Amino acid sequence: MTRQAAGHAALMDGNYRFQRHVYDATRKHYLLGRDKLVAALDVPPGGSVLEIGCGTGRNLLEVGRLYPHARLYGLDISRAMLETAASAFGNRLPPERWHLAQGDAAQLDAGSLFAVERFDRVFASYTLSMIPDWEQAIDAALAALKPQGTLHVVDFGQQAALPHWFRSGLRAWLRRFHVEPRAGLHTVLADRARVAGRELRFNSLYRDYAWLARIGPAGFPQSAPDRRASAATMGCGR
Ligand SMILES: C[S@@+](CC[C@H](N)C(=O)[O-])C[C@H]1O[C@@H](n2cnc3c(N)ncnc32)[C@H](O)[C@@H]1O
Repeated sequence: MTRQAAGHAALMDGNYRFQRHVYDATRKHYLLGRDKLVAALDVPPGGSVLEIGCGTGRNLLEVGRLYPHARLYGLDISRAMLETAASAFGNRLPPERWHLAQGDAAQLDAGSLFAVERFDRVFASYTLSMIPDWEQAIDAALAALKPQGTLHVVDFGQQAALPHWFRSGLRAWLRRFHVEPRAGLHTVLADRARVAGRELRFNSLYRDYAWLARIGPAGFPQSAPDRRASAATMGCGR
């Protein structure tokens, strides 16, 4: 790990040393759209799924429940979070189904960490808003995909359709936890998808509170939020 990444790891450990014990109970109220992301993963039989910034493992456990054949891989920079994830996985899943590793998502080297180079699904849930080099993390995630694989992202949007007081209050509160919603997320994902010859599907959720995005091979199937978004664009649905 670079010196900069080691500093960020220490910051994240400080953030979560105590928070991790109440994390799942408290975050379910405001990390919205995570279950939509998991439901749309559509993991192929025996498929491999990597979460970058897996935190307590809450999402990967849900992936394991919905897709009992999936092999689960979790990367996080915080050792404290990984300890919590390992104890949750150990209680609920056989050891051969899951692998956790500490590392910086911006410098992802899946081959060394997991002995797997490419995954069927890679996802980032409320993580890019905490990674200083988030564009590099997107590049690394795309590089870790199989040709038919898909990248899924859910994160804070820009709250464009919510009252101004709500937006500024939320932003001030998120800053206390070192979270910075990425205004350029759509542009960067669209650019990276174009360069990789892939397609981007991008949805704004809950009055722009959150953004949900997927990048896949040309013509990859639409999910329920994609279908609703195109119906709304055509003026024939909500
Ligand atoms: C807000 S939590 C989200 C956890 C989980 N994805 C969820 O949806 O509940 C963000 C997680 O990203 C991790 N993280 C932050 N920067 C990271 C980096 N550079 N590389 C890997 N993980 C990182 C944090 O340690 C934390 O566990």
